[in-house]
Amino acid sequence: MCGIVGAVAERNVVAILLAGLQRLAYRGYDSAGLAVSGEALERRRVEGKVERLAELLAERPLRGQTGIAHTRWATHGVPSKNNAHPHWSEGDIALVHNGIIENHEALRQSLSEQGYVFNSDTDTEVIVHLIHRYYQQTQDLLSAVQESLKDLEGAYALAIICRQEPERLIAARRGSPLVLGLGIDEHFIASDASALLPVTQRFIYLEEGDVVAMQRQQADIYDADGKRVEREVHTSELQADAVERGEYRHYMLKEIFEQPSALAATLEGRLQGQCIDPDLLGEGSAELLKGIKAVQIVACGTSYYAGLVASYWLESLAHIPCHVEVASEFRYREPLASPDTLFITISQSGETADTLAALEYAKTLGFDNTLSICNVAESALVRASDWALMTHAGPEIGVASTKAFTTQLLVLLLLSTVVGRLQGRLSADKETDIVQALRKLPHDCERMLEQHQAVTELAQTFADKQNALFLGRGVHYPIAKEGALKLKEISYIHAEAYPAGELKHGPLALIDADMPVVAVAPNDHLQEKLKSNLQEVQARGGQLLIFTDHKASMPSSDYVTVIEVGAVNNISSPILYTLPLQLLAYEAALIKGTDVDQPRNLAKAVTVE
Ligand code: F6R
Repeated sequence: MCGIVGAVAERNVVAILLAGLQRLAYRGYDSAGLAVSGEALERRRVEGKVERLAELLAERPLRGQTGIAHTRWATHGVPSKNNAHPHWSEGDIALVHNGIIENHEALRQSLSEQGYVFNSDTDTEVIVHLIHRYYQQTQDLLSAVQESLKDLEGAYALAIICRQEPERLIAARRGSPLVLGLGIDEHFIASDASALLPVTQRFIYLEEGDVVAMQRQQADIYDADGKRVEREVHTSELQADAVERGEYRHYMLKEIFEQPSALAATLEGRLQGQCIDPDLLGEGSAELLKGIKAVQIVACGTSYYAGLVASYWLESLAHIPCHVEVASEFRYREPLASPDTLFITISQSGETADTLAALEYAKTLGFDNTLSICNVAESALVRASDWALMTHAGPEIGVASTKAFTTQLLVLLLLSTVVGRLQGRLSADKETDIVQALRKLPHDCERMLEQHQAVTELAQTFADKQNALFLGRGVHYPIAKEGALKLKEISYIHAEAYPAGELKHGPLALIDADMPVVAVAPNDHLQEKLKSNLQEVQARGGQLLIFTDHKASMPSSDYVTVIEVGAVNNISSPILYTLPLQLLAYEAALIKGTDVDQPRNLAKAVTVE
């Protein structure tokens, strides 16, 4: 949350910073700002999105060869121009921050007593005054920052510039991501490499506690102990246009339609004939997977739902007990650890604060084997885990997760199958069936996406609705939950999901003509049970929207709209049935006129607790 960009170059950096912010807007978009250092520090800030900052800069341009910029997701203090970054102190030091300073109240009090005047309600402003105070003693920006960091508790990624040292930019990270971009006689800093792709493909991912002193021709990195260190340089294969919207109206739509290729990319290199590579997690991992006796999965939001689906697969295919929990709960209770339990975190970004904290906590509890399922190879989560199983979904920019979810499901299905085979609980024939279904998966997804028009018409149902129920049974219950989450987060329609068998234990009371009920009804062993549950809805005047296979014989009628999605293989059906639900949420949001890619109050990559 919150996006940071900084640059030191010979050219004017304002356009680079602005373009970087536009590419980072998915991280937060309630206010934005930019500052440059020259003879004086100058800044521009706005409440609202980066586009407003661009308009302001067109009216009141800035020029500078050293600069920092920020797009905000408010934690302390409402979204407003005053709370927007960069914050500054006495016109000497300007700073942008991502993270939360936990001891900000004590620092604010002490700095106020020393005469500093606060102009915002943010936790961030204490950092800039603190650095200013140390600068009075050191007259050196790097050491002033290093001294200040010792006083801070909490998480931060920071970029700082100073009027007295106009050709220098200092950046630091702890708990929030930061990447250094290497140009030719120019250096950049950003929360995410994608912000810098138009200017460089060469990156250094800063480690916990790192501080970097950047000038045009030099960037020196210091570790948490202040020791000068070298860090590995990575060359990104991502093209700048990989994070562009192209012909699509929204990133979310683009990412929904990218699923066939994202799934194909995730599958690549993982199948060997009719089998799945037993060393799925890398060399030597088959040995580990052969010995595990249980799985504990921890994740947040959509990634948590992927974990719920996996628990059905791990128990049915591998006969391994699997417990799934949201990270923010796991990290504050006293779970029982056992050394032969595989501890899995699932995360698109690999930056989610609760998931990261849960992983660190799990290690202290005695979970000795940790695996992260993640879409970002250089993320903190991957680096903190013993093993990684990467999804190759490509950058996901829309705040609502789509292709990350289906690729997570795919790798979880691969993992469940491999564990089942290695532990002798799954037959070779069954593995062959699964592999065949997976080879067809990208094509089956394309077929699913052909339902777009039918789903668009169905979405009209939501034009005047404020609530919806989603129903599923078995492994499709978490898919119903994911469908409900997609609908609520981007259309702001209140939606809940229930296992269909639970209806008469309470939620049936809600059914009337104003409560559309969306059912995920594949042709599986629970379909007859589900049909009875749907009868209960119909008998009470509810409006049913049913997604099902062509074999299900569920006729449409006045209050029942059936979308037949074509024959679907049972094993891959949770992945496939997700697609029309994503489209439904997308189309409903269009009808409601919401901001699909940047829904209110949300941001991608939840790096704060
Ligand atoms: C919903 C959504 C969120 C994320 C959650 C975890 O569409 O995107 O619920 O799934 O914030 O994020 P990651 O997967 O990055 O840990």
